[in-house]
Amino acid sequence: MQRPTPWLDDLLARRRSGYSLAQPFYTDEDIFRIDLEHIFQRHWLYAIPACQLARPGSYVSQWVGNAGVLIVRGQDGAIRAFHNSCRHRGSVLCKAGEGHVAKLVCPYHQWTYELDGRLLWARDMGPDFDPVSHGLKPVHCRELCGLIYVCLADEAPDFDAFASLAAPYLQVHDLDQAKVAHVSTIVEKANWKLVWENNRECYHCDGNHPSLCHSFSPDPDIAGVRPDGTIPERLMAHFERCEAAGSPSRFRIADSGQYRLARMPLQAGSVSYTLDGRPAVAHSLGRVNPADAGTLMKFHYPSTWSHFLPDQSMTFRINPISATETEVTTTWLVHKDAVEGVDYDLDRLTEVWIHTNDEDREVVENNQKGIQSLGYEPGPYSMAQESGVAQFVDWYCETLETPASHTRLKVVET
Ligand code: FES
Ligand SMILES: [Fe+2]
Repeated sequence: MQRPTPWLDDLLARRRSGYSLAQPFYTDEDIFRIDLEHIFQRHWLYAIPACQLARPGSYVSQWVGNAGVLIVRGQDGAIRAFHNSCRHRGSVLCKAGEGHVAKLVCPYHQWTYELDGRLLWARDMGPDFDPVSHGLKPVHCRELCGLIYVCLADEAPDFDAFASLAAPYLQVHDLDQAKVAHVSTIVEKANWKLVWENNRECYHCDGNHPSLCHSFSPDPDIAGVRPDGTIPERLMAHFERCEAAGSPSRFRIADSGQYRLARMPLQAGSVSYTLDGRPAVAHSLGRVNPADAGTLMKFHYPSTWSHFLPDQSMTFRINPISATETEVTTTWLVHKDAVEGVDYDLDRLTEVWIHTNDEDREVVENNQKGIQSLGYEPGPYSMAQESGVAQFVDWYCETLETPASHTRLKVVET
């Protein structure tokens, strides 16, 4: 019989706002399972850029915790998502992370599915077998301006409010004209919330990101959110200048705090994430003006943050593997006609964020280790520097505390 989880209610009730979380939120396998079930299996998650599926039959298979998701471009050009589990005896259908197929053929007993999920062929299943009721199970899938989102919930929450807020910001980046220049996947030995907490502040940037700080400002107003919601004048002037040039820019945040967008300035003299601040790609991706518009930063809990610049775009996707491991995938996008070695040098395009990701991995892993040690107790955030961290942690706790989450929390034996 199911019963609520009083120990979790108690931990949430005892939480001090403005402080890091209690140790179990970063280490406990039961809380990790609740995070999967009530956060990652309920909300819309960024999956891939649509251009990664270049033609019919292109697929990407990825994990969301323990859930395999297969994203496929069909013969009709539409992108669909399915559970990556065969309807025969459940084998993973597509083992590779990405590829191209004419049909989806299970490696175990070769049940064969159309790209739209219909079961086409299953050997020796007898006259009473009904192939129609054994198609692949669909996963909710939406495309927004060249970005593919999926949702594992039976009933997906609203996507349209986010889509209508984000679309004008994204449209000028022409991601339908993009190609993938590079994908990097790393595993950080830390809880997924520590990956986010680190992402949501630049208090650590001066001391840890020598490459990034050439172009990205550690100004806390850029990475964070002012607790009183005000926008500093210098940022408002930047938003107005970009918007006058046709690039939607001003700071917008969902009422729930789940997603936010703003086009933030880079360091003076920088137009891209390069060591010299100059463009990384000669053939621009998008129609973003002015040239120093900076980076459109899109944060969308729990799965993604992204940077969209005038010459390139980068998406980041996080996948929680265990209570103490998180996979981070970074994808660099350039214009499909940009030629490597001519219009861009791959090392130059990627070096700043390859370094930055590795530096973040190091600080986040060190944070995890310290939290696991005996002396850890929640510590205070700097409201001048870490308001974005407080905002993320508040969103996380409020999401667990909402009645819908609360009543559906599964049994955890204590
Ligand atoms: S499990 Fe897929 S064909 Fe048997
Ligand atoms: Fe960082």
